[in-house]
Amino acid sequence: MTEDQARQAIIDLARSMTGHGINHGSAGNVSMRWHRGGGDGFLVTPSALPYDQCALDDIVWMSIVAPDPAAVAPPPGSLRMPAEPVIDGRRRPSSEWRFHHDLYAHRSDAQAIVHTHAPHCAALACLPRIQRDGIPAFHYMVALAGGHDIRCAPYATFGTQALSDNVLAAMTDRRACLMAHHGMLAIGASLDAALALAIELEWLARTYAQTLQLGGPALLSAQEMDRVLEKFSSYRP
Ligand code: 13P
Repeated sequence: MTEDQARQAIIDLARSMTGHGINHGSAGNVSMRWHRGGGDGFLVTPSALPYDQCALDDIVWMSIVAPDPAAVAPPPGSLRMPAEPVIDGRRRPSSEWRFHHDLYAHRSDAQAIVHTHAPHCAALACLPRIQRDGIPAFHYMVALAGGHDIRCAPYATFGTQALSDNVLAAMTDRRACLMAHHGMLAIGASLDAALALAIELEWLARTYAQTLQLGGPALLSAQEMDRVLEKFSSYRP
């Protein structure tokens, strides 16, 4: 894949999000890990530009600053970068470049990231019980996000390092999370994988909301979720 093909794939995915029912307007952002001549980095959608107006040259490349080794197991709020990343583009990168950057810096399994304001995820992420407990094991597909539940990152103002720190913590041992009063995000081994997980998370959020309206679901046991996680580890075509 050439860099232009990667840029086009990001734009195509971003445009498809509305049709998949997981986004609207210019909300959300999409990125893909992209190395340049030995330099670790990623390509990310520009800030505030409607995706149907987005051209190849509007996608921004940013370098990834290696994390401070002293901050490998840091207390909350201490994941700050030792230096600012290099930005290459004619547009400003997504205002959420910090959590894209920090996920790539800390998660080798993140090759692509999809952040959206999916309606059912965003609605659930406004509820105190979700902010406290996340989405519990009401359905076995919850395990697709990597664990027994789907956490909700605490609220912080969009585009801030505080939000990135909250997202990174909520993503510990997970591939997706909700974001309080905001939306959701998913990572994947490819753009397609991150999109598929984002679509699945929105389905889970919608279905969980329906179960709450019907009186609340029964939950699967921890042993059963462990069994599902084990089966997912070899579930592929
Ligand atoms: P950007 O347009 O800057 O990517 O912001 C959209 C968004 O969803 C912020 O969380």
